[in-house]
Amino acid sequence: MSKKALITGITGQDGSFMAELLLDKGYDVYGVVRRKAVLNYGNVEHIKDSINFVNADMTDIVSLIGAMKTSKADEVYNIAGQSFVATSWEQPIVTTEINAVGVLNMLEAVRKVNPATRFYQASTSEMFGHAQEAKQSETTPFYPRSPYGVAKLYGHWITKNYRESYNMYTCSGILFNHESERRGKEFVTRKITDGVARIKLGLLDCLEMGNLDAKRDWGHAKDYVKAMWLMMQQDEADDYVIATGETRTVREFVEKAFECVDIIIKWQGKGLEEIGVCKTTGKTLVRVVPQYFRLAEVDILLGNPKKAEEKLGWKREISFDDLVRCMVENDLKLIEKE
Ligand code: NAP
Ligand code: GDD
Repeated sequence: MSKKALITGITGQDGSFMAELLLDKGYDVYGVVRRKAVLNYGNVEHIKDSINFVNADMTDIVSLIGAMKTSKADEVYNIAGQSFVATSWEQPIVTTEINAVGVLNMLEAVRKVNPATRFYQASTSEMFGHAQEAKQSETTPFYPRSPYGVAKLYGHWITKNYRESYNMYTCSGILFNHESERRGKEFVTRKITDGVARIKLGLLDCLEMGNLDAKRDWGHAKDYVKAMWLMMQQDEADDYVIATGETRTVREFVEKAFECVDIIIKWQGKGLEEIGVCKTTGKTLVRVVPQYFRLAEVDILLGNPKKAEEKLGWKREISFDDLVRCMVENDLKLIEKE
């Protein structure tokens, strides 16, 4: 008989790749969707007929118990979240209700309906925040720098606590930034690739950016959902860092994305005065504006994926250059279609 999986956050970037992976492996896939005024399947529109949708919300335990009963899931991938860090200062309560209490709601639903169900929690490198070690691993102390990071830290610890208190198979993936052509346009990578494509096609003059010095460890979401599945197939539940082990500035991401459309960027000025100009035409294509800076910044993230590589046999397959190129090429195609 096929295994059954319940995915929360199935309409998002990671949820959609997870659904594809589980369908390929022969699972019966159930996906939690929130009620919306206009019905919309987000990133799983193309496979919606293969998914059993369940109406539920992370903030409503009654609906999550219902989702567990309907799906009879063997594995729950708790991927739903208010995932945009900047929004967590504007909406700290809802961020906490979804990213902290929502995890507890899902864990309790699992415990009440079938405690033998395996549970995956979408933890994050944002929990390291003001990083206490140059390369962050499972043993690096946490220091979150946003309401998002603080809420996710609760979700992380309550997942560990259910493992220790109730002997349940609950694990957390501490995932560093991962991107794809399905990334929301508010995140820096997609904002850049969409902007570069628009500039190339003559639809935008200039990209307005925040902190170009921030450094992130960027991988491809397709590689990262494989790690989530592997974490759920072990003899014992544990927590793992998933990262590439490379870090780059936002500025480097901008340069690489412009390179994909044959534009070389030269930087001039410093801080808020910094601009990126086209090496051949001298036109300003990148400007720094204060509105995209954070109230408290995470300056640098760099993960150490050694434990996942050794214990799970996981390896990142898609390089940084290929990630940027596939995002730019996809945005060029999408905009041309528009
Ligand atoms: P995403 O594209 O923003 O997707 C978030 C998903 O959560 C969407 O399906 C959204 O549904 C759903 N959701 C939000 N609030 C909900 C609620 N109250 N009830 C039910 N569903 C709700 O995010 P992502 O990049 O795929 O990230 C997935 C998870 O991993 C998030 O928890 C994020 O915090 C975490 N994470 C992401 C990264 C990364 O770099 N991508 C790294 C570490 C951890 P709607 O379609 O209805 O909005
Ligand atoms: N969004 C955005 N827009 N970020 C900018 C901009 C801009 O115009 N300019 C500079 N940045 C900088 C931000 O200040 C931050 O340092 C960095 O780019 C990355 O921002 P995001 O792409 O918004 O992602 P994030 O790192 O804050 O959070 C993502 O990764 C986390 C894992 O580390 C999200 O996916 C989180 O859900 C995830 O947990």
